[in-house]
Amino acid sequence: MALHTGILLVGTGRAAHHLGHAIVNSGRKLVGVAGRTAAATDALARSLGTAAFALDDALPEASLTLLAVSDDAIAAVASRLGARNGTVAHLSGATDLDRLLPHAHRGALWPVMSLSPGDPLDLRTVPLVVDANGAPAREALLALAQGLSGHVVELTTDQRRLVHLAAVLTANFPVALFAEARALLHRHAIGPDLLTPLWTSTAAKAATAGPEAALTGPARRGDRGTLERHQAMLANDPRLQHLYRSLSELIATRHTAQADAH
Ligand SMILES: NC(=O)c1ccc[n+]([C@@H]2O[C@H](COP(=O)([O-])OP(=O)(O)OC[C@H]3O[C@@H](n4cnc5c(N)ncnc54)[C@H](OP(=O)(O)O)[C@@H]3O)[C@@H](O)[C@H]2O)c1
Repeated sequence: MALHTGILLVGTGRAAHHLGHAIVNSGRKLVGVAGRTAAATDALARSLGTAAFALDDALPEASLTLLAVSDDAIAAVASRLGARNGTVAHLSGATDLDRLLPHAHRGALWPVMSLSPGDPLDLRTVPLVVDANGAPAREALLALAQGLSGHVVELTTDQRRLVHLAAVLTANFPVALFAEARALLHRHAIGPDLLTPLWTSTAAKAATAGPEAALTGPARRGDRGTLERHQAMLANDPRLQHLYRSLSELIATRHTAQADAH
């Protein structure tokens, strides 16, 4: 296998934007960007200083083809690409490597980070998970990952899926609750930015001192009156009321023993 023919990026969304810039900044050769929407493909390729391709074009050789497409599109795009002579990898935490069939050398390079539109992220401190179906894919992905980040972890597919589940609990759900909290204040004509210092300082404290130190609130204290009043205030929003009750029960059963000990 040609080890140094460069990297082909497939997809033009959030992950493609950040990975593409990190690859170029690391000095690795990006041989092109391929995507299904011409305008987005041209724009990303131009910003990365490389060539743009449609998915059905004759694509350039690459030692590594990175599929930065939606999880549900990985299988269709992998089979649509035709034979690739190097490794084909996706960027998903949740997707099986078999979705990359019929390619022989398959892998995943999963950034454990929320990637949003905006300035290209410096990936040097972002954990990159590598999962591969054999030595060629493992070598190709480790070579790239270690050039991008100082925090590279090899996991099996089952482990990667487990970390992905943990990542959803860590990042997705708190952000969804933050959005609900902001909307609640907004509906009552109170500026939602009032909550921002609480949000940032709590996340920082949970990361540095640990969740047990950061967890406060009525459920942990066992303040039943406050818990009941809050639930009554959510009577018009049964879904949020249900969530409030479930999370309070979880905190009460799993965290009050430690609270009592403190
Ligand atoms: N964003 C994150 O926080 C994050 C973090 C870690 C890993 N990832 C992984 O990165 C991958 C891409 O996610 P993303 O966040 O970059 O998604 P995204 O911003 O929604 O971009 C999705 C890309 O997939 C393309 N696509 C979707 N369906 C397609 C199809 N049927 N055929 C061809 N192309 C198709 C889209 O093309 P169009 O623009 O033409 O629709 C777009 O280029 C996923 O596997 C995701 O799990 C994302």
